[in-house]
Amino acid sequence: MAFVTEQQIQKFHEDGFLVLEEFFTTEECDAMRKQIHKIIADMEVPPHCRTEFSTKEEEQLQAQGSTDYFLTSGDKIRFFFERGVFDKKGEFLVPKEKSVNKIGHALHAYDPIFKQMTHSSKVQELGRKLGLENPVVVQSMYIFKQPGIGGEVTPHQDATFLYTEPLGRVLGLWIALEDATQENGCLWFIPGSHTGGVTRQMVRAPPGSIPCVQFLGSEQPYEDSQFIPVPISKGGLILIHGEVVHRSELNSSNSSRHVYTFHLMEAKDTIWSRENWLQPTPELPFPSLYL
Ligand code: FE2
Repeated sequence: MAFVTEQQIQKFHEDGFLVLEEFFTTEECDAMRKQIHKIIADMEVPPHCRTEFSTKEEEQLQAQGSTDYFLTSGDKIRFFFERGVFDKKGEFLVPKEKSVNKIGHALHAYDPIFKQMTHSSKVQELGRKLGLENPVVVQSMYIFKQPGIGGEVTPHQDATFLYTEPLGRVLGLWIALEDATQENGCLWFIPGSHTGGVTRQMVRAPPGSIPCVQFLGSEQPYEDSQFIPVPISKGGLILIHGEVVHRSELNSSNSSRHVYTFHLMEAKDTIWSRENWLQPTPELPFPSLYL
């Protein structure tokens, strides 16, 4: 990639997002896709997805299982499925590779290929160009946006879910492993919407609650006309400010829209909210990007 210029950094500060085409090579994208293929081939259905239950208590236990599965996924490689892909015994109703909505949230730590891509010298260089002194990787996700069923993601700010004090310390890196178009659900942004703080914060609910999280505040309504589509070619990277408002639409096309995405936090002089669903653990403290 032709390295990121001062004008591009300036543009990022103005818009709250930045498109960097050809950041990763076709070969790097294919290596990530191949690795995911392997991970899915070895995937086992988590117990809470075996959904045969006959009593309210069993239903409650299943809901608790699914809640725990999510809340403890910050330091693991776990699978999150599309709706209706299992029968009552937990057998796949669709091909395995078409069943997954996303894989999260620690591919960057436990999978060698994703670890290498996350900490690649070009990502580190990008961090330095952005002036990050002590960036740490807080989470990673592989998102499938399956053809025909990959759902809409409603307007949000990432800092709602990854809250820090002060704000302005979280950055998303969103890597297109296939062309992302308006047809298969590319991102849409409201340029310049990153300067007014967050309108809601997702916090942990008291232990044992279902759902396991709740919101303080509410997302404000946005006009469709405020958003611009940001299509990007395979290998491109979109840098996302933690407070910029963005969304994506349903994938109504016949092609998937695979993405590897991870979030950084500038850890210098920053407090990670203890109320975030995602917390560093003794097994996996947030790793430094530069190591
Ligand atoms: Fe987001």
